[in-house]
Amino acid sequence: MRTRPLKVALLGCGVVGSEVARIMTTHADDLAARIGAPVELAGVAVRRPSKVREGIDPALVTTDATALVKRGDIDVVVEVIGGIEPARSLITTAFEHGASVVSANKALLAQDGAALHAAADDHDADLYYEAAVAGAIPLIRPLRESLAGDKVNRVLGIVNGTTNFILDKMDSTGAGYQEALDEATALGFAEADPTADVEGFDAAAKAAILAGIAFHTRVRLDDVYREGMIEVTAADFASAKAMGCTIKLLAICERAADGGSVTARVHPAMIPLTHPLASVRGAYNAVFVESDAAGQLMFYGPGAGGAPTASAVLGDLVAVCRNKLSGATGPGDSAYTQLPVSPMGEVVTRYHISLDVADKPGVLAQVATVFAEHGVSIDTVRQQGRQDGGGDASLVVVTHRASDASLTGTVEALRNLDTVRGVASIMRVEGE
Ligand code: HSE
Repeated sequence: MRTRPLKVALLGCGVVGSEVARIMTTHADDLAARIGAPVELAGVAVRRPSKVREGIDPALVTTDATALVKRGDIDVVVEVIGGIEPARSLITTAFEHGASVVSANKALLAQDGAALHAAADDHDADLYYEAAVAGAIPLIRPLRESLAGDKVNRVLGIVNGTTNFILDKMDSTGAGYQEALDEATALGFAEADPTADVEGFDAAAKAAILAGIAFHTRVRLDDVYREGMIEVTAADFASAKAMGCTIKLLAICERAADGGSVTARVHPAMIPLTHPLASVRGAYNAVFVESDAAGQLMFYGPGAGGAPTASAVLGDLVAVCRNKLSGATGPGDSAYTQLPVSPMGEVVTRYHISLDVADKPGVLAQVATVFAEHGVSIDTVRQQGRQDGGGDASLVVVTHRASDASLTGTVEALRNLDTVRGVASIMRVEGE
């Protein structure tokens, strides 16, 4: 074993960074044995230097992250700051000064992954980011390495723990969105500002990263269609239950049937209770991968939290250190297929549409005609007279597979019918 240590600079020492530092210390001997050289924490860049950080030598702490990555003797920079800047500049500077990088930064990788990979290549450095998607769950490496000989056609996953906690709570207790969010906040599962999670931004960044790697193409954050889950209601869950389904916020990345394009989207969807993703409870994440040869694979585990995310960071750190010792680099960017990302209108799936309609002769026929005129085939229709005596009924239509554009056209036309009082909800049905 080499005795000269590999030097690691840690950028950020919050929930994840402090766990990275702790595991580097407590598992130092094992990490050294697995890598073939000791790893030394050479510096920790923080915003608030006065904060007491147990187990971290205060002499290593600095507020000057740029100076740390420019030192010239750093082998690996671990970036767990998050956000676009200063993380992007620090990573680029790290490559320029001979370091490889391990990052947990999904927003940055989703937005600037191509440029960062190019910078890593220019300097014969590694850029690893297993922790950027679904915390501890191994996903990037299985997609990039284990499935490198296969052809992935679909990635369908729950990649946000906060929203899964909220939706699971709504499902199991009948609570409304706000009540479930309040509980998630009180228990620490939701941030004080939950926008990134509940509006689907966090999941969309992860979908962009997963789609790019799975399909060997370039998928940017802007390419991902996104709908949050704040409009999901207790009534939607009741409808889902009536169909033997539950509701999950899904990230769905698909290769088109003709193989010539891909799509990536995040939105709430009904999935059958028999689908493995339906039983993912609480704040857990799970990702279902379908490929030509392997068939169906499922990856499951904690998608957030200090120690689980640090586990993924440490796995990358070991891999990058091994590469450093052997003078090699690991697999980099692989966007050679250059498949275009199709717009949401071309996505084909099934839909559950709940309408408030006048309860009188001919209405069902009128509604069915609108679906037919837009080429959307109806699978089932359920009508229930309302108990309030207002002469209206609730009409639930479940369609066969149709394009999103056709469905949008159908719904617009339905809204123009005098007999349709309102479109109560539209939800996609996935996983069948
Ligand atoms: N906020 C994310 C979640 C974790 O709730 O899953 C970090 O991506």
